[in-house]
Amino acid sequence: MNQLEIRDLHVAVEGKGILRGLNLTVPIGEIHAIMGPNGSGKSTLSAAIMGHPKYEVTGGDIVWKGESLLELEPDERAKRGLFLAFQYPQEIYGVSVNNFLRLAMTERFGQTPSFKEFDAEMKKWLHLLDIRPEFTKRFLNEGFSGGEKKRNEILQMGMLKPEMAIMDETDSGLDIDALKIVSNGVNSLRGPNFGALVITHYQRLLDYIVPDIVHILVDGRIVKTGDKTLALQLEEQGYDWIKEEALA
Ligand SMILES: Nc1ncnc2c1ncn2[C@@H]1O[C@H](COP(=O)(O)OP(=O)(O)OP(=O)(O)O)[C@@H](O)[C@H]1O
Ligand SMILES: [Mg+2]
Repeated sequence: MNQLEIRDLHVAVEGKGILRGLNLTVPIGEIHAIMGPNGSGKSTLSAAIMGHPKYEVTGGDIVWKGESLLELEPDERAKRGLFLAFQYPQEIYGVSVNNFLRLAMTERFGQTPSFKEFDAEMKKWLHLLDIRPEFTKRFLNEGFSGGEKKRNEILQMGMLKPEMAIMDETDSGLDIDALKIVSNGVNSLRGPNFGALVITHYQRLLDYIVPDIVHILVDGRIVKTGDKTLALQLEEQGYDWIKEEALA
């Protein structure tokens, strides 16, 4: 019950079927990685889990801690402890990093955090992620470099303490040092009350955030599941053998 369970999920975008019978279970407390070719449906899966209105669930179910999410709005899903770190974080003009976090925390925890509490927590995460305090006064994602956007996603994650985080290519655009810093942030959340679905193209990230399980998504379905060595195998051999195996 203490898990995210995706059952025979079918999702269409603008009438076109993208996910076609996807099954996946991620228990809270585990970190699972999803790898897969461009266009296989990884971001579509993230969007569907969070309830993006453009992604229409045409079959199957998404069950979080025993409750179907399908009828819930994105903010209701977030309140229940789900979090999505976007592949392409959006700019929000006029809303500072600080204010956004205060609002998001109020939503998530049902009460406004006290200044003391907020400052202490913020300080901890800024330090961990090597972000300068001035940064939090800037408007959300406006003019942020690729790496700053990704760090900011992890800052949000650290402050909002989701029980399940979906990280869509959080490693893209990070230099080596930033990759380590961001991974440290994720690893510091690791524990029995935190699970994650880490979407990545590169084995390298998984050296830092070591997954319990690796899934391969091809053509809208999970076609293979294994341990972290599966990611190494992909790095060496690419996706052709998996596609052939899936067809056989
Ligand atoms: N909003 C949308 N409008 C139109 N087509 C979409 C939309 N979202 C996804 N698609 C299509 O769905 C398919 C899967 O896209 P998706 O972004 O889920 O792939 P992905 O596995 O995340 O790829 P990548 O590795 O390149 O990020 C693609 O063919 C894409 O064009
Ligand atoms: Mg994607």
